[in-house]
Amino acid sequence: MSKILVTGGLGYIGSHTVVELHKSGHDIVIIDDLSNSSLKILDGINEIINFNINFIELDLKNFKQTKSFIKENIDIDGVIHFAASKAVGESVEDPLKYYTNNISSLLNLLNALKSLERKINFIFSSSATVYGKPEILPITENESIKVAESPYGNTKQIGEEILFDLVKSSPYFNVISLRYFNPIGAHNSALIGELPIGVPQNLVPFITQTAIGKREILTIFGNDYDTHDGTCLRDYIHVVDLANAHLKALSFLIKKKENNYFDTFNIGTGKASSVLELIKGFEESTGINLNYKIGDRRIGDVDQCFAEVSKANNVLNWKSNLTIEDALVSAWNWEKNINNEKF
Ligand code: UD1
Repeated sequence: MSKILVTGGLGYIGSHTVVELHKSGHDIVIIDDLSNSSLKILDGINEIINFNINFIELDLKNFKQTKSFIKENIDIDGVIHFAASKAVGESVEDPLKYYTNNISSLLNLLNALKSLERKINFIFSSSATVYGKPEILPITENESIKVAESPYGNTKQIGEEILFDLVKSSPYFNVISLRYFNPIGAHNSALIGELPIGVPQNLVPFITQTAIGKREILTIFGNDYDTHDGTCLRDYIHVVDLANAHLKALSFLIKKKENNYFDTFNIGTGKASSVLELIKGFEESTGINLNYKIGDRRIGDVDQCFAEVSKANNVLNWKSNLTIEDALVSAWNWEKNINNEKF
């Protein structure tokens, strides 16, 4: 049994990963500063796994506290680092918040871990946003990294660079960076899921909030793109499949004998779906008619973004299993539960 630290473990992807990690027998400690999460998610995790997970409220921006936490947990074998701010628009308005939260937290964590002088298997939460507008579709890990379109995207690029340099210089770190495509859905228990703050920017929470009546109407951002139905194409991946990719990456690193390993993997389904197809899929799988209209394009959106996933399939022995319909139904059940529980 390995002891795994999950930072940001009460967040959207973190919480689902904790559930899957526990199922596979890992000993877990969660740290989270609760800046964009709720203790109700901890209750949800504990109810799903029927166990009280070890949780410590800690802000990684505080180096002293981070260092003493790591010193008390010197037997950590692996770290999955989710803790970060993730709203693209907010990062444009308040870049310093993003550089402080995402970069100084990462540096504090790595400095504290480095002082242990023992092998650490580290999984970094990255994003397909590092590719910007792709030159070749589907996107492989060899796609060039462009100048980031947002401070948020830049923090993911810089995070990868920091880890790449660290791995070259230190025998203690082996690192995998997972570049997520579009995570959607929730745990099928409807006890954990995404908790957007304010008006959701992402498509699926906007769909479910419109369906439940929190939003009047969903606007499709443009139907004049060069795609089969004119709306943008994305690679939507069920969050539980995404969570399992972290387990596969971790066990790959745990088994690895060599040091100085750094690599990046796309985590998606390899399938492209349009905004209209997602809406139709939601209507068909839930029986709800969605109120929507066509609007202008959103600045910064690329017309197509979907993954080539054979590297993760072959090297990590991971692939997605769940369907978009599974994800949409689970997102809808979660939305109904948030409404009942008043998160
Ligand atoms: C965004 C982020 C990305 C992040 C991902 C998942 C940007 C540029 N990228 O990707 O970094 O990893 O979310 O959290 O913001 N859409 C509508 N109406 C809406 C909302 C969205 O038509 O109300 C469309 C968008 O134009 C896009 C698709 O739905 O074509 C998906 O949008 P979204 O869920 O925001 O994800 P991305 O923009 O792909």
